[in-house]
Amino acid sequence: MAPDEMAVYASCCSRLTASVAAYNDILDTVIQDDALRTLKLFPDAFVDLLIVDPPYNLDKAFGSTTFKRMSSDDYRSFTERWIEAVKHTLKATASVYICCDWRTSMIIGDILGKYFTIQNRITWQREKGRGAMHNWKNSMEDIWFTTVSDRYTFNVDDVKMRRRVIAPYKAEGKPKDWTETEAGNFRDTFPSNFWDDISIPYWSMSENTDHPTQKPEKLIAKLVLASSNPGDVILDPFLGSGTTAVVAKKLDRRFVGIECEAAYCAYAQKRLKMADDNPEIQGYTDGVFWERNTLALQQKVVKQESQKNVKNLSHR
Ligand SMILES: C[S@@+](CC[C@H](N)C(=O)[O-])C[C@H]1O[C@@H](n2cnc3c(N)ncnc32)[C@H](O)[C@@H]1O
Repeated sequence: MAPDEMAVYASCCSRLTASVAAYNDILDTVIQDDALRTLKLFPDAFVDLLIVDPPYNLDKAFGSTTFKRMSSDDYRSFTERWIEAVKHTLKATASVYICCDWRTSMIIGDILGKYFTIQNRITWQREKGRGAMHNWKNSMEDIWFTTVSDRYTFNVDDVKMRRRVIAPYKAEGKPKDWTETEAGNFRDTFPSNFWDDISIPYWSMSENTDHPTQKPEKLIAKLVLASSNPGDVILDPFLGSGTTAVVAKKLDRRFVGIECEAAYCAYAQKRLKMADDNPEIQGYTDGVFWERNTLALQQKVVKQESQKNVKNLSHR
C-alpha cells in the first residue's frame, strides 16, 4: 500500500482516552492501541463472540515490533493478562475461540479451563508451512472452542460442508444422502473438528495483505456463522489485517477490533471498504463451505442459480 493511501486508511482508526459508557459508541470500529490497555476501558457484558488470534509463542516480526519467544511461564502470564482484561466484556452466553500453533496450544489449552468451559479443539490443516530439515513440517493449527457458560449459540446448519460424492450410492434408484445437480454430485456434511478445506490466503486472493500471519476469511466465517447470529457483536483484540472485522461485516454482524500496528489497521480499513463492493467469502458459496479445489464448481453453481433466477423473473 502506498504511504499516502496508508495514512488515509490509518486515520480512520480510533483510540480511546476514557472508559466507554455505551458499547454502541465503539461498534464497527478499529481501535489502534494496546489491547490490554484498551480492553479495560470497554463496557461490561456486550460481546457475543470473542475471536482471539494472539501472537504465538515464537519469534515473529509484526511491523515495527517483534514478538519474542518466552518461557512457558511467561507466555502463560501473557495469556492470563489478556484473558483477565477481556473477560468482563463477555456476555454470559458468549463463545470464545483462540487460535494457536501446537507449541502455544500446550500452554493455552492448559489454562483455558480455569476461565471458560472447553467445548472442543479444532485442528486446521492449513496445508502450507515451512519445511524443516530435522523435523516434521508444521502444517496444522489448533483453534480452541470455549464458552462462558453452558448456554451458547451453535448454528450447525449454517456451517455444513459440501463434498463431491466419489461413490454415488443409490437406494431404490435414488441418491442416498447426496444430491444430483447439473454441476455434479454433492453431499452436505456435518462440520467436524478437523478442517482440511481451508488454505492460507495466497497472493492472488483479493483478501491477501502483507500481514505475516493473516487468517483466511473462510476460517473466520465458520466461527462467525456457527457461534453468532446477525446483529451480534464480535470482538477481536489482536485484529491484525482485519479478517474478523471484514467477515463480521460481510455476514451482517457488528464488530470491534483492536490492533497496535498502524499499518495493519490501515489494511483492515481498506479491506472493510472493499467489502462494500464485494461481500463474497472465497470457499463459502450457496450457503455452504466447499471442500478444497472446487472453485470452478462453485462458479458453475453460482452461474446456474443466477440463470434460474432470470428464468423465474421472465415467467412472472
Ligand atoms: C497473529 S496476528 C493476528 C492476525 C489476524 N488474525 C489476521 O487475520 O490478520 C496478531 C496481531 O496482534 C497484534 N498485537 C500484538 N500485541 C498486541 C497488543 N498488545 N495489542 C494489540 N495488538 C497486538 C500484532 O501486531 C498482530 O497483528
